[in-house]
Order: sequence, then structure tokens, then C-alpha cells
Amino acid sequence: MDTVFSQLTAELGQKPSTWLVTGVAGFIGSNLLEALLKLNQKVVGLDNFATGHRHNLDLVKSVVSADQWAGFDFIEGDIRNIEDCHLACKSVDYVLHQAALGSVPRSLEDPANTNETNVSGFLNMLIAARDASVKKFVYAASSSTYGDHPSLPKVEGVIGNPLSPYAVTKLVNELYADVFGRSYGVKSIGLRYFNIFGPRQDPDGAYAAVIPKWASAMINNEELWINGDGETSRDFCFVANAVQANLLAATNTSIQEHHQVFNVAVSGRTSLNQLFEGMRVCLEPNFPHLDKYRPQYRDFRKGDVQHSQADISKAQSMLGYQPTHNINDGLKVAMPWYADKLSKEVVVFQ
Ligand SMILES: NC(=O)c1ccc[n+]([C@@H]2O[C@H](COP(=O)([O-])OP(=O)(O)OC[C@H]3O[C@@H](n4cnc5c(N)ncnc54)[C@H](O)[C@@H]3O)[C@@H](O)[C@H]2O)c1
Repeated sequence: MDTVFSQLTAELGQKPSTWLVTGVAGFIGSNLLEALLKLNQKVVGLDNFATGHRHNLDLVKSVVSADQWAGFDFIEGDIRNIEDCHLACKSVDYVLHQAALGSVPRSLEDPANTNETNVSGFLNMLIAARDASVKKFVYAASSSTYGDHPSLPKVEGVIGNPLSPYAVTKLVNELYADVFGRSYGVKSIGLRYFNIFGPRQDPDGAYAAVIPKWASAMINNEELWINGDGETSRDFCFVANAVQANLLAATNTSIQEHHQVFNVAVSGRTSLNQLFEGMRVCLEPNFPHLDKYRPQYRDFRKGDVQHSQADISKAQSMLGYQPTHNINDGLKVAMPWYADKLSKEVVVFQ
């Protein structure tokens, strides 16, 4: 089927642009890098490896051609340093700003550090993008901005109060982007990601996201904890959908406003209990111990919202966004990837 995105990828292939991806060694950043290089684009990447990994860049290198890889220019640098931001923005057409310290619990434990990267670093990037007159500044916003507002599904114009320092930083990003549009004419789009998952999302560390953390626990037959009764629900969104939204947002020329925000999700709703079962079923054929494997339950986590589900009609109508993967499609790609990377045994998925 011919979609706005398939037309765009065909056009991009004919005409290379230069893209800056900040946070390029992280999960979403490295997926953006892979997609852009496969479309023969030039990519500048910026990362300080705070939570990203050099091996993510190596993995991308292994799946693109030598010519495509030659189109990548990596800067090891820090968005908290304005000089690094100026250097990275030089001569780029589009900025896809992903660098940030993610995780609600991390921000509750260390709000100052989260603020420095996510607010001061973000402001540096906006200034550098403005000074370099980039065509579009697309940035990773977050569903956490909906905070304590109870309505479902979440519609862009209706937000509540933030429930964590992380959520404050993501809301401040939107406010700054809006003001930079009004004050300096910077064109920007914030993409409110809803629980993005897929290959290269980090399974390690105290702040790992639920899908990679559980995949690792299941594959290695370790204890798996569900916070709360498991009926907490999320709109899990495969990373290919987020990549699509970034490319559509950057290249869109029909939006007149200087700043807009869009939900990036599939508009599905999956409880943690359903997620557990979906992952278990995906992995069980290759890991027979999962037949009897069950989760353990503990208290709800501070700062978490109970339910989250996006209305994606704004992105559909204004950007031509059409998610290609629902949660099960995404799990069918992500689970074999984790099995291959995390298992000590050789795994052959059917
Ligand atoms: N993954 C999700 O579900 C999700 C949901 C909502 C929003 N987001 C946002 O999407 C973006 C990407 O998230 P991700 O899941 O890929 O996380 P990630 O941790 O894998 O990637 C973030 C990258 O930013 C880099 N970084 C951090 N601080 C930096 C600094 N000071 N200077 C330069 N680089 C720095 C890290 O090293 C890492 O490579 C973040 O802005 C995050 O807040 C993610």
C-alpha cells in the first residue's frame, strides 16, 4: 500500500539530506541512525555514552553497507556543553533530538542531573539549532506529560500535572520549543513517545524499561517482578513506528504553526499481565522452562500513571503517520532479537 511514509522514503532515497541524531548510541537514536543510513542519508551523531553504548553503533555498522556507513559522522560530546551542540548542528538540515536521561525512578533519585541534561541540555540544543537555521527541530517528548490527567485516550491538548521530575523536564521541553517558535521562528515538533520498545533497548541496569528487563529475566530464568496488580496498562509502541514519526515530522512542510506536539503510539492498551503473557508465549518455544514460569507481584511504583493510551488521530491526519507494527508484531521482532543477544544458547526462531 502506498502511504505518505513510503512516498517519503522513496523521495529521500533520491535526495540525501543531512540529519543530526542526538543520543545516537542509545536505543531510539541508533534505530533512527540505521533507518537513515539505509535510506542513503548523511547522519551526524552526538552522544556522550551516559546511557548509550558503542556496541549499538557497531551493530548498526554491521547491517548497513560500507558506503552507507561512510555517510555517518560521530561526535563524542555532551549536550550540556553548548560548543558540542554548535559543532553538531553545523550544516545539518534536520535535527532529531533524542539525547536525555530517561526513567522516572532515576529522576526521582537524582532530579538535578536529570534536569541538567533534559532541560539545560535541551535548551543548548535549541539555541544551536536556531543559530544554525536548521529546517526542523524534532525532539523526543513524552507521554509522561499527561501526568495525573485521568482522561483516556490521551489527546495532545489535554494534560494534567507532572508526576515526576522527569515529566517536568519533558513538559519544559515543550514550553521552550514553543517559545523558540514564537520568539525566533524555530520550527519544531515534539513527539510524545508512549512506551517505545524494540531491538537495542537496554536490558541492563536499575533503570531498564519493562520489556527488555523482562525479556532478560525470562530468557535467563530469573525472578520477574510486576509492580502493582498487573492491571496497569500501557500503549506499547514498536520502535519502527517512532522512526516513521520522526522522518514524517522532520520533512513535513504543510504544518504552518512553528511548534506542534504529536502522540506517537499505536492507540492500543495492554496490561502488564497481558504483556507478560504475550512475551512468554513468544519466547516459550525456544525456552521450555517458560512453561511454568510466572511473575511475582509487589507494590505500585511511585510516579507511575495507572493507565496510558494515546489518541493518534492528530499524527495520522497531519503527518500521515500510520503505525506499521502493533504490540504483537513488535514483540515478534524484538523477542528473537533479545533471545539472540541475551541467551547463552544458540536460538533458532520459527
Ligand atoms: N524509550 C521510551 O519508551 C521513551 C518514552 C518517552 C520518551 N523517550 C525519550 O526518547 C529519547 C530516547 O530514549 P531512549 O529510550 O532511546 O533512551 P537511551 O537511554 O537508550 O538513549 C538516550 C541517549 O542519550 C545519550 N545522552 C544522555 N545524556 C547525554 C548528554 N548529556 N549528551 C549527549 N548524549 C547524552 C545517552 O548516552 C543515550 O545514548 C529520550 O529523550 C527519552 O526521554 C523515550
